[in-house]
Amino acid sequence: MSTASIFRILLLHFSLSTVLAAHSQPLTPPYLSPNTIHPNYQNMFNSFKIFIYNSNSTFPFISPSQSLFYTRLQDSHFPTENPEKAHLFFVPFPSDLPPRSVSRLIRSLRTELPYWNRTLGADHFYLSCTGIGFESDRNLVELKKNSVQISCFPTPAGKFIPHKDISLPPVPSTPAPTSNTASFLGYAKFDWVKESTLVKELSSDPDFLIESKPSDLNTFADRLGGSKFCLFEYGGGDVSGIGEALRFGCVPVVITDRPIHDLPFSDVLRWQEIALFVGRRGGVVRDLKRVLGRACWERHEKMRKLGVAASRHFMWNETPEPFDSFYTLMYELWLRRHTVRYVRRESPFVV
Ligand SMILES: *[C@@H]1O[C@H](CO)[C@@H](O)[C@H](O)[C@H]1NC(C)=O
Ligand SMILES: *[C@@H]1O[C@H](CO)[C@@H](O)[C@H](O)[C@H]1NC(C)=O
Repeated sequence: MSTASIFRILLLHFSLSTVLAAHSQPLTPPYLSPNTIHPNYQNMFNSFKIFIYNSNSTFPFISPSQSLFYTRLQDSHFPTENPEKAHLFFVPFPSDLPPRSVSRLIRSLRTELPYWNRTLGADHFYLSCTGIGFESDRNLVELKKNSVQISCFPTPAGKFIPHKDISLPPVPSTPAPTSNTASFLGYAKFDWVKESTLVKELSSDPDFLIESKPSDLNTFADRLGGSKFCLFEYGGGDVSGIGEALRFGCVPVVITDRPIHDLPFSDVLRWQEIALFVGRRGGVVRDLKRVLGRACWERHEKMRKLGVAASRHFMWNETPEPFDSFYTLMYELWLRRHTVRYVRRESPFVV
């Protein structure tokens, strides 16, 4: 297993210690489609039906978010035993199933049941934490190209197809936010083993406080609550704390050298107004300071509020609640339910 638990979260408390509290304006919702999301959600909640192949099986999933999604779905009102009523079909298989076995599984669906052939898999979805790669095998090609993949954020490069795939948000580990006390100037959390040039640059900068690990989760929560910006390195770094940063009002700053397609709920949330995206070219720290310095005064409070409002979508509640992680994922699946049904081509000469 990889070093999945490695954290590389950098938190920054900008050295301008006084924050101008923005005066309360009506808060715009953090959604791409603020006028339609609520009626669409209600429609999804009332109508959505999923057919689960081998619905009573349990699977050894490698990530908590996969297991949570699977059990929540099994326990929800969405599954139907009547495939004719289903909008989408779910093909569950264990995380460590070798590609050849996945291919055999798809082949058996294709030959034994009529549903795969109707859309060549386009109304099917599957869970794979690291995503499946492109293979030459026909079954895997159709699964990869047509079916909706739900992978764990961040998905390895090349394993995510933006118009159809979905990423699972990480499961938060910190306690709920209490009051925010900015008791330090800056903070960075990272992993000594995979120390990056960015960390090296920031370590020597007095505006940033960097540590390899907070002593416990409460301390970590305090750091999040007391920081204006939380820095995440995308691609190699650990970005799993991004939902928690939002919850604590710490505006995420995502440092990346390529476009990011797999942000959780990217077809629901206005990420461009919730987080800052900073390119890695040039002097990273100089760019960072320029971007953060500008954002600090003009945009920070608005982004912070939007982020806090968006953070409900990252919660995995004991009893599912509207717009929590589970239901938002279902909503994203609902948005993908319209697929082309291929009709079987009949020979014109058959009488
Ligand atoms: C799954 O289990 C339930 C009861 O636990 C049963 O009613 C149902 O028929 C089972 N479904 C399948 C597909 O085996
Ligand atoms: C689906 O199509 C394939 C040919 O592409 C065929 O071999 C298979 O029997 C079909 N499945 C069903 C259930 O008709």
